[in-house]
Amino acid sequence: MSEHVRDRKTISVVICMGSSCFARGNNRNIELLQSFADRPDPAVRVEPRGHLCEGLCRSGPNIVIDGRLHHEVDPVALAGLLNQATGGPAGPGGAA
Ligand code: FES
Repeated sequence: MSEHVRDRKTISVVICMGSSCFARGNNRNIELLQSFADRPDPAVRVEPRGHLCEGLCRSGPNIVIDGRLHHEVDPVALAGLLNQATGGPAGPGGAA
């Protein structure tokens, strides 16, 4: 493993895969996360994972980024949160 790859920052993203959050926007958020995770940026790696409903459906779509829970996350908000977490432009094409 090269020094450069070992030093890259990893952003943990846990997305609620429960039916309510999924229908309210996490279906679209998953696509954004996947494209972000596939971005060829050696400095940042996004690790998306999913979990089942945790009973917070009313405030969904819910997403946890680096251990912090975010509510009512639409794709625009998610791009901004990822931008914040990575310190760079969100999304595969740059600015969101
Ligand atoms: S479906 Fe996400 S908290 Fe219930």
